[in-house]
Amino acid sequence: MRMYDIIRKKRDGGLLSDAEIQWFIDGYVKGEIPDYQASALCMAIYFRGMSIEETTALTFAVRDSGDRLDFSGIDGLRVDKHSTGGVGDKTSLVVTPIVASLGVKVAKMSGRGLGHTGGTIDKLEAIPGFRTDIPTAEFEDIVNNVGIAIVGQNATLAPADKLLYALRDVTATVDSLPLIVSSIMGKKLAADDDCIVLDVKTGSGAFMKTVEDSRRLAEAMVEIGKRAGKKMCALITDMDRPLGFAIGNSLEVIEAIETLKDNGPDDLAELCVALATRMLYLAEKGTYQECEAMVRDSIISGKALDTFAKMVYAQGGDGDWILHPEKFPSAKYSYEVKAERDGYIVSVDTEGYGVSSLLLGAGRNTKEDVIDSAAGIMLKAKTGDFVKRGDTLAVMYSEREECFAPASARFLAATRMGDAAPEAMPLILDTVE
Ligand code: URA
Repeated sequence: MRMYDIIRKKRDGGLLSDAEIQWFIDGYVKGEIPDYQASALCMAIYFRGMSIEETTALTFAVRDSGDRLDFSGIDGLRVDKHSTGGVGDKTSLVVTPIVASLGVKVAKMSGRGLGHTGGTIDKLEAIPGFRTDIPTAEFEDIVNNVGIAIVGQNATLAPADKLLYALRDVTATVDSLPLIVSSIMGKKLAADDDCIVLDVKTGSGAFMKTVEDSRRLAEAMVEIGKRAGKKMCALITDMDRPLGFAIGNSLEVIEAIETLKDNGPDDLAELCVALATRMLYLAEKGTYQECEAMVRDSIISGKALDTFAKMVYAQGGDGDWILHPEKFPSAKYSYEVKAERDGYIVSVDTEGYGVSSLLLGAGRNTKEDVIDSAAGIMLKAKTGDFVKRGDTLAVMYSEREECFAPASARFLAATRMGDAAPEAMPLILDTVE
């Protein structure tokens, strides 16, 4: 086979065979196919798309490019949840301890922040001592004893995705449906879970900007997961506004803790209950209504918060910070962003809010950047709210005072004001089963 022929075939709209896709992934991981040819193929895929058969072959090739995890040492059904990436999305921190407190095992591999989106591992690392890199035997022990452990993605898991993702990031080929499907599902299928609930984001803060594209993404992921023998379900949820009020690592952990205490923002609580209910339902814990009642009880009784604290202790962190979140240190500097006119917040460019938080130090601009855990944004007003000129729209936090000028300019540019209230949008737009 020749890479040239594969690129040309896809460029001209042809269908790649399983063998061609496998050959490309093998050769790229071995370093035999150069980046310039791999990026040309990614761009051809971006423009021409892939059939479900091609996308399945690409996903399975990514899955098989490294180690496959074996969780047979964990007793009972294992359920995972994965979001396609958003701003202020701390649902994993809330949903996974709820589910684990109800007897369903969660052996979770999570990622770090990506572009303007945050990552669960960066958030958990805001807790002092919390280890996200733990040996498999210890990971299994924690899952067996506490019901839940969350670790970072192992270097040998789906290495093809690691290489391709870095390439896509710099060649404007991230937001391609088959490439997103194979990246996410390639990693998910390399882990050994029985059921997967996907939270597919849609809107200005998501990689897929329209509901139609997000539905196609959800359908493809659900279909491929089923082909791999997993029980699957996807919710399509709004990312035209950040989730909750907190954006930034320790701010988000604190908001997740408040949600576990039944004291969180309505949108975050609604989505967490829906996702946790779906996870229990897939794990056959009862009817949908029974599962939802169990979820609410786990929050109200404090069982979910207790499970979160136990997981933190088990992974080396100070679980006392979960029970006393006032222990999280505040950033050295804060700055209030004020409304420049009277009016409604008509819409926000959520990606712009994510970038603004990144500028404050909550994310990475280069791979080497060290995250400032306390940096971020607390929103004081959201889409649909009426504000007066001079009202505080948000409070920004950072260790570097000089970040406030560019971050607040980005924030204000991303906040669209108008004279009429916008139409209210539901948070959960669709379900794909
Ligand atoms: N998250 C991933 O892991 N991969 C993508 O391509 C997009 C979001």
